[in-house]
Amino acid sequence: MALEQLYKIVNEQITHELGAEMQYLAISFWLERENLQGMAAWFKQQAIEEHDHAMKIVGLMNEWDAPIALISPPNPTLEFESLKSVFEAALAHEQRVTEQINSIFKTAREESAWHIEVAFQWFVTEQVEEEVNARDNLAKIIMIGDNPAALLEFDRHLATPA
Ligand SMILES: [Fe+2]
Ligand SMILES: [Fe+2]
Repeated sequence: MALEQLYKIVNEQITHELGAEMQYLAISFWLERENLQGMAAWFKQQAIEEHDHAMKIVGLMNEWDAPIALISPPNPTLEFESLKSVFEAALAHEQRVTEQINSIFKTAREESAWHIEVAFQWFVTEQVEEEVNARDNLAKIIMIGDNPAALLEFDRHLATPA
């Protein structure tokens, strides 16, 4: 695989990260409508982080003098049938991103593109944390079930940045 081909895959990751930003914003807006302002704030913060991920890759591409072709992400899912499905979607989304990051890392190694491999170590580590958060949140939502007091408590908890 030519280095240009590898840069193309990295370029696609910019779109994936922007797609994650859009999806988390959409989730945040949905939660806002459900009066779960703490959770809405948490997902808005996640959206900002996803934007930062995209910009981090943009910065790397510039350092590598690799051309950036900005491609729009697909429209996010706007409606959810339950709170549980929101958190399931968030976990599934992070798992998908982990696969994408791992694939870049693996290809970089196979192609001896050490500059890409080293740069993407940061993303491999970041995805571990992202999946931990998504799994913890889903586990708590399942634990909360139909208990409004516990739900409000968790909503308040997520409102406070760690
Ligand atoms: Fe990300
Ligand atoms: Fe993420």
